Amino acid sequence: MRATVGTDETLVVSFAPAWPLETERLVLRPFEQSDTDALCAIHSDEPNARYLYNEARTREQVEQLLERKIAGSSLRAEGEWLSAAAVLPATGELVCDVSLHWESEAHKQGEIGFIAHPAHHGHGYATEAARPLLAFAFEELGLHRVVGRLEARNIASARVLEKLGMRREALFVENEWVKGEWQSELVYAMLAREWR
Ligand SMILES: CC(C)(COP(=O)(O)OP(=O)(O)OC[C@H]1O[C@@H](n2cnc3c(N)ncnc32)[C@H](O)[C@@H]1OP(=O)(O)O)[C@@H](O)C(=O)NCCC(=O)NCCS
Repeated sequence: MRATVGTDETLVVSFAPAWPLETERLVLRPFEQSDTDALCAIHSDEPNARYLYNEARTREQVEQLLERKIAGSSLRAEGEWLSAAAVLPATGELVCDVSLHWESEAHKQGEIGFIAHPAHHGHGYATEAARPLLAFAFEELGLHRVVGRLEARNIASARVLEKLGMRREALFVENEWVKGEWQSELVYAMLAREWR
């Protein structure tokens, strides 16, 4: 946590992990301008976008997304997303874009999200990259419950949430009209006491 004085002399409190965060094989750091190409490879990939609400993004859309991700290196209020770039320390390659949504301050709820570089799927990177953000959510931000939401056919995403130790809480059947079809939604969750 850090406190700074805003432009109107009010105290602004923001919450950020102690960047960079290290895991066994990855380093998590805030996004930076030089991530444009790699972020483009992740977000303009058609199969990657298959079960997301958005279509594969254009380069211009990725550039706008990157601006938001760079601004998301810390959290100041509910509704904001914290964004982390998970890179391989030896090469600096971006392998996963992982994020934490601060959904509610009153209810202490959050949501975890991840999207991996298509050239680096299946190595356990999304799971490894999500763990430090769950640690931050529960141990520093003080959240009570963190969820993961996904389209019910997104087996890889469900598997990541299971490997993180999250419980399958709900299946909403055909609750959303997305990309020209009725889609179903799975919700996984973890409570702070389960994290501990
Ligand atoms: C979901 C995603 C982030 C997983 O990234 P990843 O780094 O490959 O994840 P991991 O390697 O940690 O785990 C993936 C698991 O899914 C499994 N998996 C992947 N595709 C699968 C399939 N079609 N059927 C069954 N299992 C599958 C893998 O075997 C692995 O499980 P395992 O460790 O038990 O073998 C990646 O597939 C992705 O970017 N998808 C597109 C974006 C997306 O849907 N994000 C989630 C939005 S809710």
